Amino acid sequence: MKFASLVNPAVLTQPVYEPGKPIEDVARELGLDPAGIIKLASNENPFGPSPRAAAAATAALAQGALYPDGGCYALRQKLAAARGLGADQFIVGNGSNEIIELLGHALLRPGDEVVMGAPAFVVYKLVTLVFGAKAVEVPLVQHRHDLGRMAAAITPRTRLVFVCSPNNPTGTANTEAELLAFARALPPHVVAVFDEAYAEYVADAPDLRPLLREGRNVVCLRTFSKIYGLAALRIGYGYAAAEISALLNRVRQPFNVNAIAQAAAVAALDDPEFAAHCVRENRAGLAQLEAGCRALGREFVPSVANFLLIHVGDGLRVFDALQRRGVIVRPVKSYGLPEWVRVTVGTRGQNERLLAELATVLG
Ligand SMILES: Cc1ncc(COP(=O)(O)O)c(C=O)c1O
Repeated sequence: MKFASLVNPAVLTQPVYEPGKPIEDVARELGLDPAGIIKLASNENPFGPSPRAAAAATAALAQGALYPDGGCYALRQKLAAARGLGADQFIVGNGSNEIIELLGHALLRPGDEVVMGAPAFVVYKLVTLVFGAKAVEVPLVQHRHDLGRMAAAITPRTRLVFVCSPNNPTGTANTEAELLAFARALPPHVVAVFDEAYAEYVADAPDLRPLLREGRNVVCLRTFSKIYGLAALRIGYGYAAAEISALLNRVRQPFNVNAIAQAAAVAALDDPEFAAHCVRENRAGLAQLEAGCRALGREFVPSVANFLLIHVGDGLRVFDALQRRGVIVRPVKSYGLPEWVRVTVGTRGQNERLLAELATVLG
């Protein structure tokens, strides 16, 4: 029998995730020198990890023969102290992507509905579909989540609602008051997931911890891939009421997070000065990119994150032309934004290069 006839039918129609192109792929495909290519396509930290995190990762390699601590004890203790929560309220994943998938394992059955903004981080939809659930996409208004319409989209079949703030790919955020009111008004059969992957970049980021104290069905997601510069190591976490975290911990693989990532994440939390430096640089970089867009007469969506959505006309053409010039950005046609590209805020020099190449490509 053909393998395809045996698989879960959802697999046959499953859309494929299109990641930001790795530098090595672009170099190989276009015959370019990888050293001359810059990647501003996946909202990574252009300043890398904290040197302390890198040193801890290197040191952890010496214990590479041993399985990691599946319970991520040291990291959960550190997170608990940093966030004023209990260690039992955290679930650590192979990137926060894995926690989105664990939510699917724990909660979704065929025919369930999942409410999400559109466009928002595409993995919500991918996970929804692979579990045979239905993605109910609520268009953003002025590039922001329309929480009123998202609440109105909830039915008795809704199991999960994802709110991404700051939102990828728009860089927009909802206020703390909006998010708290939204969560408090949800019916009890719905679990709210607040994806805070970019929260550390935001001054006075919303504090959603009161929702946990109120015993609500809420899970918040964070990652070490962005401000902490550890995307390659794949580590992120969720925090929730202890009962929720315990159930999510039940559906993960025993050693889902490797020891090198755990050691690096602990050390990253010990270096808040580095993170603060990255926030300051990001703010300056955003201002630089926004000024550059204004000079080019290009519309952009004001962002509070580490990336900027820029209106370029034909997004795929501009993506392709920039790539040929050694600058990788993200086309967002698959997000329903064919006229835009999403650009990660780089170092000052990288931003200058991007703006110069963009000026050339746009003629
Ligand atoms: C909004 C959002 N959530 C989650 C993630 C996934 O992060 P991780 O690397 O922790 O899986 C990303 C990555 O781009 C993101 O943009």
